[in-house]
Amino acid sequence: MKKRVLALALSATMALSLTACGGGTSTSSNPPADGSTAPEGGGTQKIGISMPTQSLERWNRDGSYLDQQFKDAGYETILTYSDNDTNRQVNDIQNMIAEDVDLLVVAAIDGEALNTVMNEAGEAGIPIIDYDRLIMNDNVSYYVSFDNYTVGTLQGQYVVDTLDLDNAAGPFNMEFTAGDPADNNAGYFFQGAVDVLQPYIDSGKLNVVSGQTDFDTVATDKWDTQTALERAQNVLASYYADGTQVDVWLCSNDSTALGVTQAIQSDYAGSNQPIITGQDGDEANLKNIVDSLQSMTVYKAVANEAVVTLDLGKAILNGDTIDESLISASGWEFDCSFDTESYSTSDGHNCPSFLLVPDVVTKDNMMEKLVDTGYYTQDADGYLHPAA
Ligand code: GAL
Repeated sequence: MKKRVLALALSATMALSLTACGGGTSTSSNPPADGSTAPEGGGTQKIGISMPTQSLERWNRDGSYLDQQFKDAGYETILTYSDNDTNRQVNDIQNMIAEDVDLLVVAAIDGEALNTVMNEAGEAGIPIIDYDRLIMNDNVSYYVSFDNYTVGTLQGQYVVDTLDLDNAAGPFNMEFTAGDPADNNAGYFFQGAVDVLQPYIDSGKLNVVSGQTDFDTVATDKWDTQTALERAQNVLASYYADGTQVDVWLCSNDSTALGVTQAIQSDYAGSNQPIITGQDGDEANLKNIVDSLQSMTVYKAVANEAVVTLDLGKAILNGDTIDESLISASGWEFDCSFDTESYSTSDGHNCPSFLLVPDVVTKDNMMEKLVDTGYYTQDADGYLHPAA
């Protein structure tokens, strides 16, 4: 089995490292799992891994997978979670620079707010892998993420297919809940969905009853569930209290979908179950999908995102030429593309990117996509839990 991460093997460590991290910092290293000596270049090279928070479920998995991947490869790691506090993340990364790390892996809380510390890392000659969320700083060496625009188009297309918008008479009523405006990804998710749905909005087949269709109005600070809940309650009270039906609520991820679902359950006068979209495969949302309270989520196998980051990190530290040949050389058993056009850290400064492929998960295919792959287990009630 080459490079296909069995989440089962990693998740056991995840439980351990979560205890160890508790939102703070952990520093550790293992002898190389394959019995080899320390990585090329002599000595134990050190990797700084900066994650945004533990309050959003997926980042706990990202941090653990990344930590385990680099430790198993013989590197020393410093893993931090910055509690969605940008000043704390700056401080965490500055500490890593002071610890003389050989590589930084950073998932930014705010893609615009790390310039100073990214510049400091650049001045220190430390390469930076920008993990999942693009940082607007030219010192970033490479970007590893999922195709963020495609996440949105998958959500939009799910709505088109489920309502059969090309044939149904309509009109159908819908609302949007987007992500954190400080997160560069949120704009891509939203635009991908809007680009699919806009023709149906223009034709009147889809009707945004609140009229709230611009990103800034429908955005959700910090992707916060309670914030999404309260805005959805306000929209329902203002536009749907007269019994108007809402057929679709396009949510950019699971933490916001959780809030919208709670609002629908507590404050919606209609009798129908709206289509509600999401992203990440968070445990509570997978339960809602089993219970038909949420319709779908876009799953991103972050275990594989960690594998790409490890192999890219190795290549950087070995001084290898980095291009699409890394994909074939690494033998990954999952799809990944090398993209030099889609993401730029400043005008005209494109950031070479490795983009993995997101996947639609519904009640009908969650066993195949999530349980058979080893990422989740299913309990006697049919609910899914991260593999432990
Ligand atoms: C995004 C990430 C998504 C989403 C959100 C909350 O940047 O790509 O998976 O869930 O953050 O963590």
